[in-house]
Amino acid sequence: MKLLQVVITFMLFAKIVFLEQSDQQEQLAEKWGFKTSDIRQLSKHEFFMPGLVDTHIHAPQYLFTGTRVDLPLLQWLTTYTFPTEAKYQDSGFAEEAYTRVVRRTLKNGTTTACYFATIHTDTSLLLAEIIDKFGQRAFVGKVCMDMNDSVPQYKEITADSVQETERFVKELLEKKYPRVQPVITPRFGPSCTEDLLCALGDLAQARDLHVQSHISENEEEVKLVENMFPAYKNYTDLYDKNKLLTSKTVMAHACYLSEEELKLFSLRGAAISHCPNSNFSLRSGVLNVRKVLEHNVKLGLGTDVAGGYSASMLDAIRKAMMASNSLQINKVNETGLTLEEAFQLATLGGSQALGLDDVIGNFEVGKEFDALLINTKASDSPFDLFSADNFEDILQKFLYLGDDRNISEVYVAGKQVVPFSSSV
Ligand code: GUN
Ligand code: FE
Repeated sequence: MKLLQVVITFMLFAKIVFLEQSDQQEQLAEKWGFKTSDIRQLSKHEFFMPGLVDTHIHAPQYLFTGTRVDLPLLQWLTTYTFPTEAKYQDSGFAEEAYTRVVRRTLKNGTTTACYFATIHTDTSLLLAEIIDKFGQRAFVGKVCMDMNDSVPQYKEITADSVQETERFVKELLEKKYPRVQPVITPRFGPSCTEDLLCALGDLAQARDLHVQSHISENEEEVKLVENMFPAYKNYTDLYDKNKLLTSKTVMAHACYLSEEELKLFSLRGAAISHCPNSNFSLRSGVLNVRKVLEHNVKLGLGTDVAGGYSASMLDAIRKAMMASNSLQINKVNETGLTLEEAFQLATLGGSQALGLDDVIGNFEVGKEFDALLINTKASDSPFDLFSADNFEDILQKFLYLGDDRNISEVYVAGKQVVPFSSSV
């Protein structure tokens, strides 16, 4: 794990310039032209860790996070989710919820997030504006869906969905936000006609854009897709044939992918977002992370708010451990995930899944400084340290028991974004 405690980092234009041992202070100051008095010395119970990357979160669903996880996926969508998302036509309503989700995730150490918004272009652009104002790094997708029999007021006409996506991409790119990018977002197979998927794939290819969606989250959904699209070999083939499975794609869940489908993910360089809290809460399934990694498929973690009841990526790390443990108990896997691997999935893995691993994900020289300052002895810390605890123990306690009270500062591209500045 790359954690900064005994090394000095030096930043120039938001990038890490060197990593050296801290006993070389004077020579380093001379070599790089800074004053030793400018060095910030961390105390023994503090360390920097790379920022957390949430590869799958629904910003509008933040409103009901922590409630209504009592139905399986398809019923959960029609009963709670679509009626809630329909309200985001109203910009005042959207502004409050979107401000709160960005504040909450940043405070919990999510320096990068890959967001679904709703079908409404203007409030999806508002989400991007709020993210930029707070200084979070993000992808934002205007959701596309032209199929929805159960909540007819929450669906689009095919041509409008494509046109509005083009407008969304154009207007977002024109804003020239340094760290907020658009992502093409077909909701999932059952919400889209083949015509819509095809047009969105063409658009993604023509503009070289990132793509996000859901795949094989629950068995009922997989069967529905088989029935709706009999001409395709499987769910992955549906996205692939429509140019939506690329090296810039991240698909959430993927609990029920076959070997053949995993091989195609690997071949295309497409990524999976593992959302264990949601998979447990909606009782969707358990992703076999070991199998995914053995197929060399890029993998990150996601909260999947509000299918997942927590907006915290520390919770995603813990639930990823429990998902892996459950497969070991059931003798599906011999080797489970280690805490170190789960930590890596939440940081570097997420950056790889989003195609940002040359920019963020760990503390390598040349990468941008997205970091959390962890204080394991914060006055209201939710865990206790004892004299016998070594650094590994302290780190494990933070990962299993810590929360935003221990995340005293958050940096994105070298800029401090938590505590929040008075201007946001
Ligand atoms: N599949 C399609 N839409 C959604 C959603 O909003 N949440 C989850 N968990 N799965 C989905
Ligand atoms: Fe989701």
